[in-house]
Amino acid sequence: MHKKTVRDIEVGGKRVLVRVDFNVPLDKEGNVTDNTRIRAALPTIRYLMDKGAKVILASHLGRPKGTFNEKYSLKPVARRLEELLGKKVALAEEAVGEIPRRAVEQLGEGEVLLLENVRFYPEEEKNDEKFARALADLADIFVNDAFGAAHRAHASTEGVARTIPGVAGFLMEKEIEMLGRALTSPARPFVAIIGGAKVSDKIGVIGNLLSKVDTLIIGGGMANTFLSARGYNMGKSLVEGDKTELARELMEKASQGGVELLLPVDLVVSMAADPGAERKSVPVEEVPPDWMALDIGPESARLFGEAVGKAKTVIWNGPMGVFEMEPFAAGTFSVARALAESGAVTIVGGGDSAAAVEKAGVAGRITHISTGGGASLEFLEGKVLPGVAALSEK
Ligand code: 3PG
Repeated sequence: MHKKTVRDIEVGGKRVLVRVDFNVPLDKEGNVTDNTRIRAALPTIRYLMDKGAKVILASHLGRPKGTFNEKYSLKPVARRLEELLGKKVALAEEAVGEIPRRAVEQLGEGEVLLLENVRFYPEEEKNDEKFARALADLADIFVNDAFGAAHRAHASTEGVARTIPGVAGFLMEKEIEMLGRALTSPARPFVAIIGGAKVSDKIGVIGNLLSKVDTLIIGGGMANTFLSARGYNMGKSLVEGDKTELARELMEKASQGGVELLLPVDLVVSMAADPGAERKSVPVEEVPPDWMALDIGPESARLFGEAVGKAKTVIWNGPMGVFEMEPFAAGTFSVARALAESGAVTIVGGGDSAAAVEKAGVAGRITHISTGGGASLEFLEGKVLPGVAALSEK
């Protein structure tokens, strides 16, 4: 990676502001229900602690829209981090000003302070210069380990690095290296599987990947639009009518570039997106007028699995169906298992697909599961992430 990392700087005795992405799901009682993102930041936090740095963590949680809201307090996160580190984590009830300044003064070497949600301040998302400076004033060095928020040009992800030197943490480094290597020098054959409900969310990714992959597999709700563009009648399935022309162009681009494009050949259809509703598998040319596609069928799963089995690099982003409902989860889980069983470098782009590999029980057999949802998508689109761009060059 061409950016400096924590390994490239002296941190002993220094005040180090670490932007982490602790935007984790909470239940109604405010308990953290998935601590993946907290665990993913531990290597950087532990490294800094071991080196005797004074560790100041900053994060957002949810979208509180610039005002204090107890529901989005980082208190439960501080408790969970404390359990994971086995060491006290102080929480500063403000992210800037006197309260954190005093807390930092009292912070010893190897100790950890978590600042309250940076999105309690409207200046954060505006990337306000004064607010960024107030955050930077708390520290000597900035470490960005929040890959999941690196696509946001906010004060705590981008602005702060204009005042104090910024370097990447280990998670940031790993994400950029894994995703970056797949895009720039993948072992071939390189297969990408793109799913999810809508083509409109994935146009950029498909466009960028088409110039890089050997095989592009399209599944999930968005496959309906491609199938419709091929002339199939999709019944009541979700089809983006205004995107069929675009789907046609993308298929044309694939064929011109010599990219094999795989679409489902069969689908699990139902009268309603309801786990109790009647359902059946049908070939794509036989979707009944009143039925809708909610998953890929078994023959498609086999076909997709076969392509994954021959690959040396696989990127997967987006489920193959409504996998939250058990009767429509088989296609998504079969893709998850195909990745786990392949000898390829396998990369899963965050959000739904990450949840799917967890649910399928194969997360441990995937080479890299990105902690970024929107960030991994933008990275795969080939965009420069502002949180990364702001860091010092090696
Ligand atoms: C995420 O969950 O993808 C990141 O934490 C970014 O959150 P945001 O979409 O609210 O900026």
